[in-house]
Amino acid sequence: MRFTAANFVKLSPVVAVVLGLSACSIAEEVKHIEEVQKAEQRQETARSENLTGEQLFVRSCNTCHPGGKAGIGPSLEEINEKLPDDAQLKAIIRKGRGNMPPQSVETINDAELENLVTYLRSLNK
Ligand code: HEC
Repeated sequence: MRFTAANFVKLSPVVAVVLGLSACSIAEEVKHIEEVQKAEQRQETARSENLTGEQLFVRSCNTCHPGGKAGIGPSLEEINEKLPDDAQLKAIIRKGRGNMPPQSVETINDAELENLVTYLRSLNK
């Protein structure tokens, strides 16, 4: 294409769009960063919801250990004798075991794990 005045006129909307994009792209980028930060904050609060031990149990454990009794998984009513060490109990919950799924810190945060262990201990009569 030869560079004539006529061609320049034809191209000018394209040039305008390109210039316009680069001018507003910084503002767009800032907006995007702000949105990502807000989403991360929301995630953070969702994570630190700090559910009670009972809420966590109902959400994540009850399907297989209904009411702490045997179901797909074994009864948890004797774990105080079988697993007296909290660290050991927490490790089983974090890592999972056999068909029992692991629970990451995103699903159950450390404070919640503490609540869950207290609840599990209370299932033992
Ligand atoms: C998908 C089913 C399933 C879910 C959900 C599940 N478990 Fe289990 N759980 C099992 C099975 C199966 C075993 C036996 C694993 C093995 O020894 O192979 C088990 C074993 C355990 C044990 C060891 C018991 C013992 O006597 O050694 C504990 C403690 C336990 N589960 C706690 C929990 C807690 C707390 C949750 C919720 C965070 C949970 N489980 C969620 C299936 C499940």
